[in-house]
Amino acid sequence: MIVVRELSGNDWAEWRELRLAALREAPDAFSSTVPGGARLSEVNVLADLDATPAGMVSGHLSGDSAELLSMWVTPDARGRGVGDALVQAMVRWSEGRGAGRLELRIAAGNQHAKALYERHGFVPQPSSDSDELEMIRQSRRE
Ligand SMILES: CC(C)(COP(=O)(O)OP(=O)(O)OC[C@H]1O[C@@H](n2cnc3c(N)ncnc32)[C@H](O)[C@@H]1OP(=O)(O)O)[C@@H](O)C(=O)NCCC(=O)NCCS
Repeated sequence: MIVVRELSGNDWAEWRELRLAALREAPDAFSSTVPGGARLSEVNVLADLDATPAGMVSGHLSGDSAELLSMWVTPDARGRGVGDALVQAMVRWSEGRGAGRLELRIAAGNQHAKALYERHGFVPQPSSDSDELEMIRQSRRE
């Protein structure tokens, strides 16, 4: 069973431990690989798979946009819906905060991440940067 929970400032140690594991396991997936990159962001979400921490994602708001950052699923939990649950949590959060769109960047060639985000309505943006791909999901507004 997957349970998604939003962390508070008191949970920073748990966040930091998982974030450092992510930076060790997938350094090429993240633009920040320094320990400072383990700080809490505006919203920080963990997913537990069968009561064990199995993934994380964070986000922040900037004007009319929200940005999704630091997505990581532990290797043994991949392909089991944890990424989907984390993306859904961020979509709910950004739309709940009134953001017009949710944006993210992935390393070019990260096909697993690209497929995950496309499934949730993110659209790759044309760019001259061959190292990074920007993807945007427009919010559904009534
Ligand atoms: C990208 C990522 C978050 C996807 O998480 P997920 O919950 O496994 O997502 P999905 O279920 O959509 O994965 C789809 C398939 O790819 C496989 N897969 C995902 N990531 C994989 C990887 N890094 N290596 C090998 N296979 C992988 C899964 O097993 C699954 O296979 P299946 O459909 O045959 O079962 C996860 O792979 C990850 O944390 N990667 C490293 C960090 C990263 O790239 N973050 C994104 C930065 S924006």
